[in-house]
Amino acid sequence: MPKPIYDIGQICELDKWETFINGQPFDLFKRLRKEAPIYWHEESLDFEPGFWALTKHEDIVRVSKDPLTFSSAVGGHLMSMGDPEVVDPAAVAAIVGNMIGMDPPDHQIYRKMVAPSFTPKAIKALEVDMRAKIRELLENVEDKGEFNFVTEISEQLPLWVLCEMMGIPESERPKIRDLVNNLTDASIQQDPNNSFQIWVNYMELFKMGRDMIEERRQNPTDDLMSVVANTKIEGGELPPELLDGFFLLMVIAGNETTRNTLTGGLMALTENPEEREKLLKDPSLISNATDEMLRWVTSVIYFRRTATKIPILEVKISKQVIRLLCGTAQQIEMKMSLLTEIYSRWIG
Ligand code: HEM
Repeated sequence: MPKPIYDIGQICELDKWETFINGQPFDLFKRLRKEAPIYWHEESLDFEPGFWALTKHEDIVRVSKDPLTFSSAVGGHLMSMGDPEVVDPAAVAAIVGNMIGMDPPDHQIYRKMVAPSFTPKAIKALEVDMRAKIRELLENVEDKGEFNFVTEISEQLPLWVLCEMMGIPESERPKIRDLVNNLTDASIQQDPNNSFQIWVNYMELFKMGRDMIEERRQNPTDDLMSVVANTKIEGGELPPELLDGFFLLMVIAGNETTRNTLTGGLMALTENPEEREKLLKDPSLISNATDEMLRWVTSVIYFRRTATKIPILEVKISKQVIRLLCGTAQQIEMKMSLLTEIYSRWIG
C-alpha cells in the first residue's frame, strides 16, 4: 500500500455503489477537496490494489488530458473487472479492448473511424425523425396522468437514437434494452453469485453485434455498424474483441449517460420551478439548459486512469490506479462542465 499523502484515515467508501445511491456525495467531495484532494483509498475487494481518488477540478482535467502519463489502456477504464478467478476472458477483452480503453496512437485510429457519425451535420440529419419519435413518446403518456418517466421516456429515447445510428432493427431493440439494463445493474451490485448470468448477457450482446457485422459485410448500408464492419486497419478487418467492444461501448455508454441526464434534468427542473418557467417562456435557452443539465446531473460517477510514469500532480504517483470523481465538478464555479472538458481531451 502506498503511503497516503494526506493522512486523514479511511473516511469513505467510494468503491461501493451505496455511497452514490442518493446522488453524488457532495459533502464528502467538499471535505476531500479541502483535506485530501489526492486521497489514498483502500479497496473492499481483496483482489484490487486500492486507488488514488482525485477530487480537484484542475487535477482531474490535467490527468484526463495527459494520456501518456495517465493511461486508459493500462488496466482499462473501470475500477474493477471482477474477480480474475471467475470472470470470462472474452468479456474482459471486449470491455478493456475498446476505444474508451485506448491511448494514442491507437485511440486516434478508432476515433477517426466513428467520428463522421457524430458530427453536428450527421446528428442534424436525425432531427426530423427524432422529433417525430419524441412526439410519439409524449403522446403515449399524454392521457396517463401518472407514469414512470424513466421507463416511458428517458429509457426509450436514447436507445432509439442509438439504434437508429447503429442500424439496429426495431425488433431487436427491446432485447438490447433488457441486456443493457441487466449488465448495468449487475456491474453496480458486484455480486459474485451473478457471474454466470452476467456472462450469458455479454455473450448474447456480442452475438447480436457479430451477427450484424456479418450481415453488414455482405450488405453494406450507411449506418455506423456498416462503417465498423467494413473498416480495414493496416489492410485487415478489426479483430473480433474490438468489434465486441465497440458494440458494447456504444450500447452501454450511449444509453446510461443520456438516460440519467434526461431523468436528472427533469428532476432538477421540477425542483426548481422558476428555472422551468424560464425555459418554457424562452425555448431558445434549451442549449444552455442542456449544458447545465450535463453539469448538474453529472451522470458519470468516475473514470479510471493508471499512472504509467512518475510524477505528476505535486507528488509521486507511479503505477497506481487513479479514480477521477466527476461529480465533484458540480460544486465548483467553472466555465464548462467537467465532462465536456474531459471529452475535449480527444479533440485537437
Ligand atoms: C450525457 C451523455 C454522456 C456523457 C455525460 C458522456 C460522458 C463521457 C465521458 C466523460 C467520456 C470520456 C471518458 C474518459 O475520458 O475516459 C466519454 C467517452 C465516450 N462516450 Fe460518452 N457520454 C455521453 C453520451 C454518449 C453517447 C450518447 C455515446 C454514443 C452514442 C457515447 C459514447 C462514448 C464513446 C464512444 C466514448 C469514448 C470516446 C473516446 O475514447 O474517444 N457517449 N463519454
